[in-house]
Amino acid sequence: MKIAVIGKGGREQALVETLAASPSTPQLFSFPGSDAIFRTALPLVADGLDSLIDAMVREGIDLCVAGEESYLVKGEGLANRCAQAGIPCWGPPKESAQLEASKEFAKKFLTKHGIPTGKAQVVANAQEAREAIGGHYPTVLKFDGLAAGKGVAVCQDEASAEAFLTEVFEQQRFGEGRLLVEEYLTGPEISIFAAICDDQYLVLCPARDYKRLKDGDEGPNTGGMGAVASRSLVDDDMLSAIERTIVAPTVAGLQEDGLPYRGFLYFGLMLTPDGPKVIEYNCRFGDPECEAVMPLLRGDLAEFCGAGARGEFKPELINFSEGWSVCCILASAGYPASSHSGDTISGLEDCKARVFHCGTRCADGDWETAGGRVLAITATGDTLEQAREMAHTESAKVDFPGSQRRSDIAYLNV
Ligand code: AMP
Ligand code: GLY
Repeated sequence: MKIAVIGKGGREQALVETLAASPSTPQLFSFPGSDAIFRTALPLVADGLDSLIDAMVREGIDLCVAGEESYLVKGEGLANRCAQAGIPCWGPPKESAQLEASKEFAKKFLTKHGIPTGKAQVVANAQEAREAIGGHYPTVLKFDGLAAGKGVAVCQDEASAEAFLTEVFEQQRFGEGRLLVEEYLTGPEISIFAAICDDQYLVLCPARDYKRLKDGDEGPNTGGMGAVASRSLVDDDMLSAIERTIVAPTVAGLQEDGLPYRGFLYFGLMLTPDGPKVIEYNCRFGDPECEAVMPLLRGDLAEFCGAGARGEFKPELINFSEGWSVCCILASAGYPASSHSGDTISGLEDCKARVFHCGTRCADGDWETAGGRVLAITATGDTLEQAREMAHTESAKVDFPGSQRRSDIAYLNV
């Protein structure tokens, strides 16, 4: 089987390596890929969606795996174009990917299908936002469109709300779009992943993401500064409540609304005192959760995704090992407000953990930074203690000028 993985970050490298290690021994391709990914996958040369489809047809690709969300909603949509070209795609069509691309669409879907979530109001300008907030803090402001995990502000007071409103409506940092003013929820967060094939689903290994930049969950929101994954992260009662109240109604809702879905669906949940509630959907695997979950996967991911993309649900093909996995992110100077490229990375050869490259390039045999999140360093172990000790020790061996890393990943809130 020839598989093309679309995307270029640490998540895609984790997918590429896990797919490549499948007993069915597929051949891997990637677009746009990265120097690190191209150690395992062959590059697909393309300069847009149409030429990517042409390249896949030329190479005889049997399965396209969508890593990054942007391709699902760009232009006509990756999965839509794959369908036209007869290439099975693991990743939903554009109309279904609105669950991630539009927070307003997602909120309407959640409300319509009675899936627990925070109350929200949609506003079109700063004045409407102020009225919706009504002086009640904390409040949560969410830009309606894709914003690489940076379009959400949890505002403790008026000053921070005003600052975010300026970014959204005056500076248009994320482009044009509306805003959701959402009820502030409390409780631990958890990332639940399901592999969906039409009306069937398999819940995968849960994970927790650490979104804030700094230790103690301080600082700005980022795409994620680390993750911990384990089947033991959520107890059986909670997991069945999540399945019953959230996952199953979502899959049924997609069917009812005529929204086709074959691919990973990520449920960002908050375990509130009133039970689990959805804070977001993502139509793909999480990043960095993928870099934590994939090392625990056993079985044949390639056959699983290939069958699923063709409409054949085969949950028996994969499972997750007992034990724990911890992933620490090294981010570049200035992240998340900006990022710094071209800094030489040292210590990679001494690192005994799995290293996934989120934003690097190889220059004359040396790895250097090329993005906000630079590396995801993952260790697994039989116990949480073993996995996190190794993840922190090994990631401390790797460095570059201005590197940022959290020292409490998998210590806090587990
Ligand atoms: P999102 O991109 O929607 O997942 O939001 C990013 C982060 O903002 C989440 O991981 C939460 O930490 C926080 N957040 C989102 N929605 C809420 C909410 N309703 N109440 C409290 N915190 C939230
Ligand atoms: N780690 C958060 C995300 O992938 O959206």
